[in-house]
Amino acid sequence: MKGAIFFSGKYGSTEQYAKWIGEATGLPVFDINDPNADPSKYEYLVLGSSIIYFRLTNRKWVRENLSILKGRSKILFSVSGAGPSNKLNRWVSKSLPSELLSQMEHIALRGKLDHKKVSWGVKIMLWMGALFNPDPEASKDERYGFDYMDKSSIEPIVKLVEQFQARARIV
Ligand SMILES: Cc1cc2nc3c(=O)[nH]c(=O)nc-3n(C[C@H](O)[C@H](O)[C@H](O)COP(=O)(O)O)c2cc1C
Repeated sequence: MKGAIFFSGKYGSTEQYAKWIGEATGLPVFDINDPNADPSKYEYLVLGSSIIYFRLTNRKWVRENLSILKGRSKILFSVSGAGPSNKLNRWVSKSLPSELLSQMEHIALRGKLDHKKVSWGVKIMLWMGALFNPDPEASKDERYGFDYMDKSSIEPIVKLVEQFQARARIV
């Protein structure tokens, strides 16, 4: 049984996590914007997506590939500033069709935001967001950036992939 990782990110943290998971599991890694990224070639999928403005960035690709994704085993990892929480779960459930979400395990990872890497327009949006964010920690993160990258946080995903691989050996 073959598997692969399909990631969607803009500033490098989702890609970094996808590569770490690829190294730990031996699965190939594809950017969803790569024309060779074809999920129909694989039996199980690890989908990685950053969260920008309260939504998963892979949501359009997911809808376009819905019929392919539905029949396959899946793991979703999100990458965001916010840590695991009800708020984060709401953003994820608003991004994906519920019938798909109910078929997958979701693991929330925390990423990185470097203000030097974003445009002035985005910087201004982040500063405005920081002004109105009622959560002081999240407001500080928006204002100054953050780095929550943690290689060890991929462990639950690696374990799930190992379970898929073990199941495949039995079948
Ligand atoms: C314009 C912008 C909007 C963001 N919106 C959110 C958000 O709504 N919630 C959140 O938790 N993090 C948010 N973040 C933080 C990103 O999820 C975090 O920086 C992530 O690591 C980006 O992934 P990437 O490096 O793969 O693009 C935002 C970052 C940017 C630049």
